[in-house]
Amino acid sequence: MKGLILSGGKGTRLRPITYTSAKQLVPVANKPILFFGIEALAASGITEVGIVVGDTKREIMDAVGDGGRFGVAVTYIEQDAPLGLAHAVLVSEGFLGRDPFVMYLGDNLITEKLAPLVARFKEERPNAQILLARVPNPEQFGVAELRDGKVVRLIEKPATPPSDLALVGVYMFDDSIFAAAKAITPSWRGELEITDAIQRLIDTGLTVRPHIIEGWWKDTGKLEDMLEANRIILDTLEAKVEGEIEDSELHGKVIVEAGAKIVRSVVRGPVIIGKGAVIENAYIGPFTAIGDHVVVRGSEVEHSIILEGSSVTSVPGRIESSLIGRNVSIYRSESKPKSYNLMIGDRSQVGLI
Ligand code: TTP
Repeated sequence: MKGLILSGGKGTRLRPITYTSAKQLVPVANKPILFFGIEALAASGITEVGIVVGDTKREIMDAVGDGGRFGVAVTYIEQDAPLGLAHAVLVSEGFLGRDPFVMYLGDNLITEKLAPLVARFKEERPNAQILLARVPNPEQFGVAELRDGKVVRLIEKPATPPSDLALVGVYMFDDSIFAAAKAITPSWRGELEITDAIQRLIDTGLTVRPHIIEGWWKDTGKLEDMLEANRIILDTLEAKVEGEIEDSELHGKVIVEAGAKIVRSVVRGPVIIGKGAVIENAYIGPFTAIGDHVVVRGSEVEHSIILEGSSVTSVPGRIESSLIGRNVSIYRSESKPKSYNLMIGDRSQVGLI
């Protein structure tokens, strides 16, 4: 069985971060989301992984390399334009050949182990196995209707959902998916939809088996989901201090990586502080991931993700529920007249007190 991770796409919902960077590389608890998917495939015994890439190809390749450190061999597959998940499957046909495969959306996170699912799929050989999660708001997802233990219908964002079972971004297919993906036409948004291809499998009498997952699942395409994923993952980590602590208080689960320095500060976990970061005269509150070489001085940050190389200096109010990109600097301006001095990219959001 092979693995296919989709790591192209537009990432419009995470602009401006995705203007300069792949959304799959935004870190959750300081680890790129994409790595969780690769690790999940590796842990299920898959050794050959294809990664579909688009405009951010270079960056993804630099981060993942040949896959050796994950114990897999990675093949990169170029998709010229993000024309849909089923289109991504079609461009991967050469890599996948006739092997069954697990398709994993590169911006999704699930806690359920894939190994038993892969084993069941290999043994029972349905044409497809889709993962479903019970959600309180099914009208915002692709929803499955089940009958007698089989999937009979998939509907994108239904106004009146037939169930509360949302499609999770992990699927298993045999090679019949190629014919199905070739038979469908683009949707109203111009994409070859994987839900249409799966519906096609059902309509042509093939077997699509549901698996309702336990534990949680997150599609991190939006800011709130990213912060929630960060919260959940931080909570699963063990406290570990490898950096330097001076005149500071650390409470709860706090991870301080090598070369980081915490001086005259209070850190209330779960928190991760990346390599070489400096926290000085500051407060870092629960559910915060501070990236490598970030500096927080004379400021308070809580429930946020700050990417590498950024600095927050002498900010008067607490920074909360925020995602701050790479090499950003936020500081209290000393110049007169007292004013806000901003240089902010397109589609940024700044909430002032
Ligand atoms: P989506 O989140 O559905 O799409 P997107 O990345 O374009 O984001 P947005 O809706 O915010 O514009 O994609 C799910 C995953 O699949 C994500 O990791 C990107 C990837 N993908 C591809 O690789 N190729 C594609 O054609 C599409 C649509 C998505």
